[in-house]
Amino acid sequence: MYIKILTVMILASSVALTACSDSSESRNQAVFNEESKLQSVDSSKVFRVYKSPTCGCCTSWIEHMEKQGGKVDPVHPENLGDIKSQLGILPMYRSCHTAVSVEGYVFEGHVPSRYINQFLSNAPADAIGLAVPGMPAGSPGMEMGDRFTPYSILLLKKDGTSSIYAQINTLAEQY
Ligand code: CU
Ligand code: CU
Repeated sequence: MYIKILTVMILASSVALTACSDSSESRNQAVFNEESKLQSVDSSKVFRVYKSPTCGCCTSWIEHMEKQGGKVDPVHPENLGDIKSQLGILPMYRSCHTAVSVEGYVFEGHVPSRYINQFLSNAPADAIGLAVPGMPAGSPGMEMGDRFTPYSILLLKKDGTSSIYAQINTLAEQY
């Protein structure tokens, strides 16, 4: 009986330690690595995607990524907002889903695959990733026939600021 309780205590304390060791700068990496079963795949093309289980446009965006050769591991956390905060994505940059590359870069919302590839092939030193805030009509995963709302792809910086990474004015520029 006593031994049983002791074992439970030891187990509980090691769980607490694991949780604490998560607070370093490599947090993004840790979030991705937690349960990664994708390490043998071409790393530049693997993304963990945090989304709600009922999000239709998220699924369409994942299909867009897969069509472009990306590999996606969807996860459905209880609180998406918490994940976005942990990853350093400020509320004004947010959209429905958040993709994280193996390197720990974030891609928030309906970012076209070609711009993700462009970013990953030459990531600026002070960047955490890219974002398309909101859900512009006609962006990948938000297809609505001919409808298209021009939008900017933002470059998210470590200090919380952003700049325009690319301005998308036509449907065709996305592919
Ligand atoms: Cu969406
Ligand atoms: Cu989405």
